[in-house]
Amino acid sequence: MATACANAMTPENAGRGESIPAVSVVGLHKSFGNQMVLNGINLSVSRGETLAVLGRSGTGKSVLLRIIIGLQSPDAGAVCVHGQDIKGLDLDRLSSIRMKMGFSFQHSALYDSLTVEQNVMFPLQHHCKEMSKAMQRDRASQLLAEVGMEGHLEKMPSDISGGMQKRVGLARALALQPDILLLDEPTAGLDPISSAEIDDLILKLQTEHQMASIVVTHDLHSAKTIAGRLALIDKGSVVIEGSFAELQQSDIEFVMQFLKHS
Ligand SMILES: Nc1ncnc2c1ncn2[C@@H]1O[C@H](COP(=O)(O)OP(=O)(O)OP(=O)(O)O)[C@@H](O)[C@H]1O
Ligand SMILES: [Mg+2]
Repeated sequence: MATACANAMTPENAGRGESIPAVSVVGLHKSFGNQMVLNGINLSVSRGETLAVLGRSGTGKSVLLRIIIGLQSPDAGAVCVHGQDIKGLDLDRLSSIRMKMGFSFQHSALYDSLTVEQNVMFPLQHHCKEMSKAMQRDRASQLLAEVGMEGHLEKMPSDISGGMQKRVGLARALALQPDILLLDEPTAGLDPISSAEIDDLILKLQTEHQMASIVVTHDLHSAKTIAGRLALIDKGSVVIEGSFAELQQSDIEFVMQFLKHS
């Protein structure tokens, strides 16, 4: 019998010459009480590719990411990582799969009581216990240099700007050398120049690390800069998925309205 993950192989994937997407979600449903949030979402992303997920506030974009990471469970549907349905995996397997996923949450979520450097060392301390403190520190400063935060290692999150916090969040997301990167609103709350800098940074990291990335954003400009493919969600479903040019050509009313007001 075909599994949900085998069914995740779409004509688009096949057309791109891929075998198994790094992440695919198949028929995801999620409700909170009477409120239906996700109503059968299908999406996939492959290595080296960035998918932007767009939609109005409250459409379930963050819920979708949390389900992919495994922090929330869907009511129905599957999350497949490298072709493996994560439902029912034992904790060890789930945790090794999660280690390959770097993520940064919508509200930056740096640990307030830790320095910039300690924030980036945090995943290493928890998942790479065999790594010496000195090596963890080296790795953290290397990552912080990669995101342009050298020289700020000892600062507290409250003493750096929102854009710098986003950079630190990105460095932390990369700490375990993930092959899947999930970013929730990486440019939210930033001025246009800082947003553009973060977009450039995401592009650079993507080129260097060739991850499969899903970036949730309501910033259309950012989405078209960083992502080859965009998926627009409304009322719990994907309304359209394609390149920015394909979205622009759409005659779907919701897509036209979203583009007009973005
Ligand atoms: N744990 C929860 N319990 C109850 N309702 C929830 C829970 N998590 C999310 N929701 C609801 O699900 C809906 C979607 O929330 P979500 O945070 O995913 O939206 P979003 O698309 O990320 O919005 P935004 O663009 O504002 O970040 C919202 O109505 C929210 O209140
Ligand atoms: Mg959100």
